[in-house]
Amino acid sequence: MLFKQQALLRQKLFVLGSLAIGSLLYLVARVGSLDRLQPLCPIDGRFGPRGQDEIPLRALQFKRGLLHEFRKGNATKEQIRLHNLVQQLPKAIIIGVRKGGTRALLEMLNLHPAVVKASQEIHFFDNDENYAKGIEWYRKKMPFSYPHQITIEKSPAYFITEEVPERIYKMNSSIKLLIIVREPTTRAISDYTQVLEGKERKNKTYYKFEKLAIDPNTCEVNTKYKAVRTSIYTKHLERWLKYFPIEQFHIVDGDRLITEPLPELQLVEKFLNLPPRISQYNLYFNATRGFYCLRFNIVFNKCLAGSKGRIHPEVDTSVITKLRRFFHPFNQKFYQITGRTFNWP
Ligand code: A3P
Repeated sequence: MLFKQQALLRQKLFVLGSLAIGSLLYLVARVGSLDRLQPLCPIDGRFGPRGQDEIPLRALQFKRGLLHEFRKGNATKEQIRLHNLVQQLPKAIIIGVRKGGTRALLEMLNLHPAVVKASQEIHFFDNDENYAKGIEWYRKKMPFSYPHQITIEKSPAYFITEEVPERIYKMNSSIKLLIIVREPTTRAISDYTQVLEGKERKNKTYYKFEKLAIDPNTCEVNTKYKAVRTSIYTKHLERWLKYFPIEQFHIVDGDRLITEPLPELQLVEKFLNLPPRISQYNLYFNATRGFYCLRFNIVFNKCLAGSKGRIHPEVDTSVITKLRRFFHPFNQKFYQITGRTFNWP
């Protein structure tokens, strides 16, 4: 009898214990996955309610896979024909500015289901040899896309190259042009840092920024130095305005794209007449990188390469002040032309 009661008690304890462990495990799993589950809503939001512009998620995933396979030479022409994929000339180009955040902008826009990026800088319009190959050569450099998607390419050298506005105009006079700018002195130092790193990689020595940016004879800003010239945004923009009206340009704040990318991307979506699809879910701050990274879906995230977001060398404050004073009137003119004001010193 006593033995029977003990067995019954053990059985009850076992059931209760199992229930408690089960509940505990469920709670742990739930809390652990909250972080991952939460974004499911924004992911739905990203593709939005079914509309004409929409590509179903599966199709998009398939498309990315197929395009990847094709680049590797694995997808057949038949598959491309079957899925109605085409290589389209860009409807929008990120024309610059070098070190403004052009790669981040392109990659972030590529989060939009209606945007397909040309991964490489094509350098069609700024390179005479490439340009001589003709527009079909350029089109063939474009990624495959669905006909209703838009292709975007970026080649920051376009902004400062003399011949480019006319060449782009000849291809498509109504093309949309994106320019991403940063505070001009910071951009010039970033430009210098990239060149410096290239020299160091080849074990070469290089001048200090101060020596390049300031003319030692006049002690004035050296306007022959390319990194300085590129930051005189208004001078370059004026050349473009001989071909395109200002309405065809959209200026992106590159400094804000670093700290607060979503509102900048939403402005671009609007400019490109795209339905808003990029959401906060698609962008997460990575503390190790110190930058926002991209989240395409629950499994696929990526940060930009380490060459984006370099540590800049320290620059003499008097040189910085001199450069900022130099850029100031050009900046004012730039604000006036573009209708977008920045808090640049
Ligand atoms: P720095 O290396 O000076 O920090 P580009 O792509 O035109 O060459 O621009 C490079 C710049 O993009 C970097 O300059 C970096 O500051 C900026 N950038 C903006 N958003 C970024 C991001 N999410 N990840 C990395 N770099 C980003």
